[in-house]
Amino acid sequence: MRLVAFVQGSSVCLGCHVNQTSKKYLSLSMTISRRNFLKQSILSLSVLNCFVERSLQAEVCYDNYAKSYDNLETSVWNRLFQLDRLRKELLTYISGGIVLEVGVGTGLNLESYPWQVMKQFIGVDTSSSMLEQARNKLNSLSINNDVDWELIEASVTRLPFPDNYFDHVVDSFGLCVFDNPYLALKEMSRVCKKDGTILLLEHSSSPYGMVREYQRWTGNLVAKLAKGCHWSVPLQDLLKHLHLYTIYQKYKLLGTVSLHVVSK
Ligand SMILES: C[S@@+](CC[C@H](N)C(=O)[O-])C[C@H]1O[C@@H](n2cnc3c(N)ncnc32)[C@H](O)[C@@H]1O
Repeated sequence: MRLVAFVQGSSVCLGCHVNQTSKKYLSLSMTISRRNFLKQSILSLSVLNCFVERSLQAEVCYDNYAKSYDNLETSVWNRLFQLDRLRKELLTYISGGIVLEVGVGTGLNLESYPWQVMKQFIGVDTSSSMLEQARNKLNSLSINNDVDWELIEASVTRLPFPDNYFDHVVDSFGLCVFDNPYLALKEMSRVCKKDGTILLLEHSSSPYGMVREYQRWTGNLVAKLAKGCHWSVPLQDLLKHLHLYTIYQKYKLLGTVSLHVVSK
């Protein structure tokens, strides 16, 4: 891997080249004022690091987990850690209009949407088997006929929607799995209206130093054991780079899980 930093005019660009074996070429350019160079470089490296590590991992195919996913996600651990409550809380920030959920999976959030105030719902995921489970759930919910819903097999990094289309964009536990969380969040921001909100419930890098170190050391093992979940997403750094501002945030489980309501 080669990391490049060069100064151009009044800005500094950082680029990251991953070697051939990863079969991927990733690059990210950022304009950073010289004054904040050191601070910003450290920040940039944490964002870049999350691409590099993931590009070297085999992509995890959720088709294999579709049938058993809900058993794990609704397990006693999840209830103990109250993740189901956080899912519900996340969706209380939806005020209506057109809603997109990326990485919708088997649709664990679907029953908690305020369908009565929504006009349209679109869920996207790359796994057709996960979408099939979500479709079954949607069919079994008694959703008001006035709400148009659709599930689409697509990647969050190439969303087939125009700019500024959605009132709310939802993602729960997706950034820890998506192969490129930076591009994913950038796409979410692109399709979200200026006065809309992006609702995130994510595994995140803890604000507590020791916990963060623990996450770093156990990262690869956790990714192997937990369906490719990289549990220390540098969420604050990603939001900062994408100029998304936080309206509300809440940390749980020593800061390793966070709920964010953000806007652009
Ligand atoms: C950990 S699961 C989370 C599912 C759901 N959001 C939830 O909270 O239960 C991650 C989901 O992201 C999907 N996924 C992975 N990469 C994706 C991509 N590039 N675009 C869209 N979905 C993706 C997987 O197929 C899987 O369904």
